[in-house]
Amino acid sequence: MDKFVINGGIPLHGEVTISGAKNAAVALVAATILCDEPCVLENVPEISDITICMKILKSMGAEIRLINRNTVYFDTRGITVPRVPYELARSMRASTYFLGTLLGRFHEAYVAMPGGCDLGDRPIDQHLKAFRCLGASDDIENGEVHCTAERLIGSQIYFDFNTVGGTINAIMASVKAKGLTIIENAAKEPHIVDLANFLNSMGADIRGAGTDVIKVRGVDYLKGITYGIIPDQIEAGTYMVAAAATKGDVLIKNIIPKHLESITAKLRKVGVTVIENDESVRVFIDGPLMKTSLKTMPHPGFPTDMQPQFSTLLTLAEGTSIVTDDIFDNRFRYVSELRRMGADISVDGTVAVIQGTGELKGAPVVATDLRAGAAMIIAGLAAKGTTEIENIHYIERGYECIDQKLKQLGADIKRVHISEISASQLSG
Ligand code: EPZ
Repeated sequence: MDKFVINGGIPLHGEVTISGAKNAAVALVAATILCDEPCVLENVPEISDITICMKILKSMGAEIRLINRNTVYFDTRGITVPRVPYELARSMRASTYFLGTLLGRFHEAYVAMPGGCDLGDRPIDQHLKAFRCLGASDDIENGEVHCTAERLIGSQIYFDFNTVGGTINAIMASVKAKGLTIIENAAKEPHIVDLANFLNSMGADIRGAGTDVIKVRGVDYLKGITYGIIPDQIEAGTYMVAAAATKGDVLIKNIIPKHLESITAKLRKVGVTVIENDESVRVFIDGPLMKTSLKTMPHPGFPTDMQPQFSTLLTLAEGTSIVTDDIFDNRFRYVSELRRMGADISVDGTVAVIQGTGELKGAPVVATDLRAGAAMIIAGLAAKGTTEIENIHYIERGYECIDQKLKQLGADIKRVHISEISASQLSG
């Protein structure tokens, strides 16, 4: 077990390069199961969720080779049994994507009910609805979701609400189905467009990704290709907020400005300067940080995955801010940890009222999930004094080399090993 120790109050300066997008990579790695030839993914982030996805593929019989740290060769033709190892599947939410790909290729799938960040109840009813529309049936057997279909027939799928995972699974299950599938009320996140581009490069026929109606015409064969994953807009947004929170001046490279539009707009609204270039943004602040109201929305709205980070920034602003995040049941678990650092936040259901205090004080805190962990890092970087963050394994699920990248920006952050003994003493 490790923790981060941060001595805060140092403005971040310099350049940081953004890695491949976690939420695109987990979908594309799973989608290699659909490919009838070997394929290569570039810009694969070196994060633990991807490590688990590759472990799952290898354990099922795929051949995976690291060409370099972020370029990976996949040959999934050796997979014969459509079952994901139980313990690996239950460790993350993205394991649901193996339902869609295994069903799409084998017309059968066994995947444990998913785990992942505890953001409240995270059912998969819409995923199963999509599979049933295509002709599949499903059951829960010993904690595993078992989906099966004689054959998959193109159909109309209408989602009750925006679901990123549901949309991704509907695309992957229908890409080799017989005939036309129309997915309505589809999610529009950049990683859905990236998945469609990846599959279309192999020979799939997917149109409308990025809009709320996606049409998938089934094909029989998907050829091997080399494909580069899009940069991570949430990682980029996290560094943009960190630059503002520490009153620094940072150039964030390898980004797609359009994917950052809602984050850029909100930062400008609270007084942060964001200068957009073709593939980078420069972020700095030379005036007071101002309060705002924020409501998370499906893309292209402000992303829920940036809410903990932005709310932390608002604790440093002047005045009272209101943050509403009803995408998940409970995405404010980190607030109790921010209060240890002097934040004045009250939460009622999916609404947080933040009284900006202008400063935070270092304290021992824990990461309660991936993005909450990123928020704790931002708080520690901005706070006066020392902050120790435990449970950093959550953070490493989605941020490649975050401590090294921050050190390059001048942060005083160290990774410290907690021996099992002292950890048990810590837990009392
Ligand atoms: C994906 O989760 C991301 N995870 C999440 O990122 C992200 O917060 C979320 O999309 C929204 O953008 C991955 O891509 C691996 P949803 P997902 O289906 O697919 C409910 C991060 O920090 N719902 O859009 O689970 C669900 O409970 C992670 O990178 C159902 O009720 O999100 C939630 O309240 C956290 N039934 C809402 O819909 C379903 O069948 C949105 O979920 C599916 C979802």
